Amino acid sequence: MLILRMLPRAALIPCYYVVRMSALSRIGVAIDSALLEKFDKLIARRGYTNRSEAFRDLIREELVEEAWESPDAHVVGTVTLVYDHHVRLLSEKLTGIQHDFHHSILSTLHVHLDHDTCLEVMVVRGKAAVVRRVADVLISTKGVKHGRLTITTTGQELK
Ligand code: NI
Repeated sequence: MLILRMLPRAALIPCYYVVRMSALSRIGVAIDSALLEKFDKLIARRGYTNRSEAFRDLIREELVEEAWESPDAHVVGTVTLVYDHHVRLLSEKLTGIQHDFHHSILSTLHVHLDHDTCLEVMVVRGKAAVVRRVADVLISTKGVKHGRLTITTTGQELK
């Protein structure tokens, strides 16, 4: 503190950002031994080297899911589609939908998986309600074999 007081006011500004770093809290959780054993096996299979990071990821997952429940929340995600491009007018239809929602679709990756099958991954961003609508319209298009909306986060709210 003595050093800080001796510095001119302008020199203190960078210190503000250091102080803003989130503090670490330790918590104790009572958990059934059999359940904990299953959890430890699960996180080991997933490659976690300690429980803390696994718990943190579970909490983050729930927070991201909850953010998506709020229609006005600003969200980011991906829509994955698998379809047969020989289905009449399907490619044109999917392209038309993407143009209709061009404000929400940032980028599209198209992979020709084999002679018939295409895989498309679209990065979507915007209000949760709009992004869900884009995904629903694309995935429910007749001829799409499989589609999935993966929800994630801009990361700004999470530590
Ligand atoms: Ni293709």
